[in-house]
Order: sequence, then C-alpha cells, then structure tokens
Amino acid sequence: MSCTQNLCWPEPVINVQSLSESGINSIPTRYIKPHDDRPNTTKFHDRHVNIPVIDYTNLFSHDAALRHQTLRTVSSACRDWGFFQVVNHGVDHRLMASIREVWRDFFNLPLEVKQEYANAPDTYVGYGSRLGVEENASLDWGDYFFLHYLPVTVREKSKWPAVPPSCRELIEEYARELVKICQRLLKVLSTNLGLEEDYLQNAFGGAKNIGACLRANFYPKCPQPDLTLGISPHSDPGGITILLADDNVTGLQVRNSGRWVNVNPIPNAFIVNIGDQIQVLSNAIYKSVEHRVVVNSLKERQSLAFFYNPKSDLAIEPAKQLVTKGRPAQYQPLTFDEYRLYIRRKGLCGKTQVESLKSNI
Ligand code: OGA
Ligand code: NI
Repeated sequence: MSCTQNLCWPEPVINVQSLSESGINSIPTRYIKPHDDRPNTTKFHDRHVNIPVIDYTNLFSHDAALRHQTLRTVSSACRDWGFFQVVNHGVDHRLMASIREVWRDFFNLPLEVKQEYANAPDTYVGYGSRLGVEENASLDWGDYFFLHYLPVTVREKSKWPAVPPSCRELIEEYARELVKICQRLLKVLSTNLGLEEDYLQNAFGGAKNIGACLRANFYPKCPQPDLTLGISPHSDPGGITILLADDNVTGLQVRNSGRWVNVNPIPNAFIVNIGDQIQVLSNAIYKSVEHRVVVNSLKERQSLAFFYNPKSDLAIEPAKQLVTKGRPAQYQPLTFDEYRLYIRRKGLCGKTQVESLKSNI
C-alpha cells in the first residue's frame, strides 16, 4: 500500500460491488447512517420541483432577447440552486453512449482486474471505494474510478483502465468536449457576475493551466437503501462539475432551502453544478450546493462526473470587483491544492470545508 504525505488507508478498503454481489440481506453497520441523515428522514420538496434547465444553443442565439433570457436563467440557477441541466449542448449522443458503455464494461470486470488499479488517498487516482482516511469513518454505498485529464503533466494515462481497449481514447475524446463547454460556461458566469468575460478563466490560471479530472461512480444494488447513501452530502470542491447520470435510474438529490430535491435527468442532458472555488471567486454570490446520492435495491446506477478546476497552486480569492463595503470578502485566499488536502484527509463533510475558509473579519 503506497503511503505518502501521511495519507494512507487506515484499514482495508471494502469493495461495495462485491459486497452487494455476495447476496447479503442486511448491510454492514459501517454503511448505516445516523437516523437523521437517512434518505427518508429528511425533508423533501414537492416531487414536481425540479432544478432549472437551459438550452445551450440559446446562449449563442442571434435573438438577443432569447440570449438574455437564457443568461438570466443561468444566473438565477447559480444563485438559487447551484445546479442546472443543459440540453442541446452539442456533444454527440453516440459519444455519450460509448463513454457510458466503456465504464459499465469496466465496472463489470472481475474484481481482481479492477484491483490492479486500486487507489491510495495521496492522489486518489485509480479504483476505490472511499474518501477520507479517518479510522472507523462512516462509509458510502459506492465504488468509483478517479483520474486526471489535465494538466497533461499529471495525466498518467498508464493508470487509466486499459480494458475495455477503447477506454483511454474515449475518455480523451469526451473530456475534450467537456473542456469546451466549461470554458464557455466560465464566460457566461463571468458576464453574469458583471466581470470581464475572461475573468474566471484567468482566475483559474488560464485555459492552458487548468486542472480537469473525471470520477466514474458506480452504485451497486443495495439490500437496505433506506439506511445508507451512495454519496454523503457534500459540495464539489473544484470549479464546475458536469455530470452525466443514468437516464433511467434516479439517485442524485440537491439541497434547496433546507429540503432535498430529486434530480430527474433529461435524456442526454448534462447536469452542471457550481463548485466551492466559484463560490469563493464570486464572493458567495454563487453557491456550491450540497448534494447526495441515494441508492436502490432494484437497480444499480452509474454516473460520470467531470470536474473543471483552477490551476492547483494558484491562490483563489473573491474577485475584487465583488468585494464592497457592504459585502466584504467572505473568504481568505487558499490554493486548490491546500483546499483539496482537507477533503482527502477528512472525506466529504457537507459544506464544512468551504465554511471553514470564512474570513474572521
Ligand atoms: C460526485 C457526485 C453525483 C452522482 O461525484 O461528486 O456528486 O449522481 N456524484 O453520482
Ligand atoms: Ni458531487
């Protein structure tokens, strides 16, 4: 087991997929959440409440009214929800189907093959089942594969799955497309915040220096889904997340005004959410919102989360233009590397890490 920066697993990692396939009727206590954190003991919004949806092509429309209306929808989604779905984003649906399929094939490989990619908490790159290194921590009902796409210097393609054979090539093709969408969204967010169009991209270190990673999630069937979670409540630490979720199994829930809302994925849409670094840069005008995943006894679920992040050694702090007498800087500067270390040690804990950045002034 590799162990650097004092970051190593405190106990052997349990693979959830093999636990699920072992035919158990009840889940081990380590997966049982405290009563108040369970899926059905928390408050829900009416099932007709949904996160906002935008049509990507409208962002480029020659019809100025339509374009402005779409910008306003994005703006209120970023302020009030931290989440929105994007349709007509231009990414080929066949590429989306292929990338889903290669990851499904990967998770269906025998455990011994997948374990050749077993990860360690110093970088998290590879196949794993937990976040955080606290002994006896509560565990979530899911496995994942994590990898870096950018910067190229940390890509380490040799650590990406070699099977199925098309996997590495498809990941690159897919990530290339999503980088373009994130670049465009950063412009939209900058404009909406009243900043120069390139403000956020520059604050991220420029298009050539950003970080990007991919987390393929796999949530096996669970015999007691009411007692556990696939991912505990958390906000995403980075810049922008683009999620490709299964169309036919729900699971993702977003917190809104103290209640949980189910995300009902529109077929072939992307689910976009704001991460903690944009909350900081926008001086908390935009919210990186807590979300969680519930699991299911009948169907397994798969999702692919693409994270677009700032250059990791650059100080991230509220944009000067958004700091005023009435609204002082809400956060102290911190690099993404420093920020991420907190999560790598502690695991996911709601929004405690972005809250802990709050200035004491
Ligand atoms: C994540 C995440 C949600 C999902 O990977 O950060 O929140 O639906 N995933 O899998
Ligand atoms: Ni997340």
